[in-house]
Amino acid sequence: MERTFLAIKPDGIQRGLIGEIISRFEAKGFTLVGLKFMKVSRELAEQHYNIHREKSFFTGLVDFITSGPVIAMVWEGSGAIAAARKMIGATNPLTAEPGTIRGDLGIDIGRNIIHGSDAPETATQEISLWFKDEELISWQPSL
Ligand code: CMP
Repeated sequence: MERTFLAIKPDGIQRGLIGEIISRFEAKGFTLVGLKFMKVSRELAEQHYNIHREKSFFTGLVDFITSGPVIAMVWEGSGAIAAARKMIGATNPLTAEPGTIRGDLGIDIGRNIIHGSDAPETATQEISLWFKDEELISWQPSL
């Protein structure tokens, strides 16, 4: 069973898209194992986006992700990492396919609604960066 880290960014919260986004992952059949509504510290944002540290948009990205509350989540299921990336769509919402979260709901690359881990190694790193072990609940849907 695979786990992935997803975060609804401040634009997704401000636009009232929490329910819409969580519904998509529930309807798909993934299992929610962790969820936090939180303000992100600069330190956490810089660690999370460390790979983009040298990019021109890094400071703006950190400013944005720390500008308002986010919803950090861990979802579980077979092939969850790749499937969630597919459901989220391309980084730039303007070119993301219709039917994806970004393709249906966004137009701005700097306001692309949701983050999702891009590979098993990053999923493991991001889950441990954002969540303590005891904040994750293993459970099996019975239906
Ligand atoms: P995310 O999937 O969270 O990973 C890195 C983020 O950097 C990405 O979503 C975008 O929000 C942001 N990003 C990537 N490219 C650009 C860009 N050219 N300008 C502004 N933000 C960008």
